[in-house]
Amino acid sequence: MTRTSTIYICQTCGAETRQFFGRCTSCGDWNSIVEEVIRPSNLRTTNKRGSSSKSLVAKRSQPISSINNEPVGRIFSGSKELDRVLGGGLVEGSLVLIGGDPGIGKSTLLLQSATEMARYKSVLYITAEESSNQVQLRWNRLKKEESSLHLLAETDLELILNEIENFNPAVAIIDSIQALQDSNLGGTPGSVSQVRECAAALQRLAKSKNITVILVGHVTKEGMLAGPKVLEHLVDTVLTFEGDRFASHRILRTVKNRFGATNELGVFEMQGSGLIEVLNPSELFLSSQNAPGVATSVACEGTRPIAIELQALINKTSYPSPRRTATGIESNRLHQILAVIEKHLNLPLSRFDCYLAVAGGLEVEEPAADLGIAAAIISSYKTVELPKGTVLLGEIGLGGQLRSVGQIQLRIREAGRLGFHSAIIPKLSNKELPSKNNNQIRIKEASNIREVFEIVLKLI
Ligand code: TYD
Ligand code: MG
Repeated sequence: MTRTSTIYICQTCGAETRQFFGRCTSCGDWNSIVEEVIRPSNLRTTNKRGSSSKSLVAKRSQPISSINNEPVGRIFSGSKELDRVLGGGLVEGSLVLIGGDPGIGKSTLLLQSATEMARYKSVLYITAEESSNQVQLRWNRLKKEESSLHLLAETDLELILNEIENFNPAVAIIDSIQALQDSNLGGTPGSVSQVRECAAALQRLAKSKNITVILVGHVTKEGMLAGPKVLEHLVDTVLTFEGDRFASHRILRTVKNRFGATNELGVFEMQGSGLIEVLNPSELFLSSQNAPGVATSVACEGTRPIAIELQALINKTSYPSPRRTATGIESNRLHQILAVIEKHLNLPLSRFDCYLAVAGGLEVEEPAADLGIAAAIISSYKTVELPKGTVLLGEIGLGGQLRSVGQIQLRIREAGRLGFHSAIIPKLSNKELPSKNNNQIRIKEASNIREVFEIVLKLI
């Protein structure tokens, strides 16, 4: 008789307990613990997979410098933007996770890329969510012709592993990991134990056969990758695909990369016939019209500078406490900048509502955009346009001082390329800006927000 045992697994953080709790003792999430049945006898067969425990060979450590360093082989994904976020292409034998909201375009991106890669590599696309017909319909929509891309519609992990082993592709794509089911385990597809075991089995296969495996993962309503931490630890690279579903552009970001930089960013535009790469994203996010409350800054995402347009609207409040809404930046940051302006420029902003948005639905996390945000707010408050062709760069400290930002050269060069003619930046040591005269951009340095304000007044 097969003995079964029950464990309770938190669907948010993956913590396991022997007892049911209404609230996870590990991550503190409510109602996230789910009972899962595990059959020990079957578990043993699961562990046999990958069978490394059977062939235990004693290994000796060696000096790090004497290790033969073979260069990592990369497979080009057929898309420059995708290669960029991967750090120069897919690394052979690596495990890549692409997460994103439903309907954002993950399947489209991977189908396009798989078709391109199939021109010179063997590629297997496993669709666990859609039927082969549905995928073929999408493929027709992408206007692809003859291709040697192989397709398998299957959800059972064992059958999928068999097919990968038999076909032995260079790249296998699993769309999506949450739809796979390991019949040896209890739990519904998508539960933490299923996701963890399926991903681990795929990882073992990827490493032992040097197959690159791309997993598609869904995002939970809290915005986390479902089956989250367990998967993120396991894979080599985590990419997220994001964007406003109502706008056409999509942004692919590197969250983790064992073979390249994180925070790298790729931009695509969803069109009728698939995703088109946007090689010049700054132009996508800028509008040519100047207006009160609009300021421009240059954000640096990984190694890529992107000009961003910041829009603010300041209105007298009719509420007891003013409304503050931030889209694309963290609201705490907005509160902080408003407080600094109020204190150091004596503007009574606490009696005004403030709405702030980064145009184009871009999310900006880095503090270099602070000065642009402050300028947009002041410009809207005073109802005057900021000087045309000026970018503002700098982090604002709580004392109103401007703090320097990283990669200033790169940002100024990008602004110059886009036709901006002046930049207001934090006072720097000369070391940081050696090619001051190389740019056609006039650079004005300020050490605090009051000085910025004076410079801006002179330029208007
Ligand atoms: P899809 O790749 O199915 O998203 P995901 O796999 O992330 O759930 O993309 C779905 C959306 O993309 C869908 O709303 C239709 C749209 N789309 C286009 O606009 N153009 C196209 O060429 C394709 C294939 C899809
Ligand atoms: Mg899909």
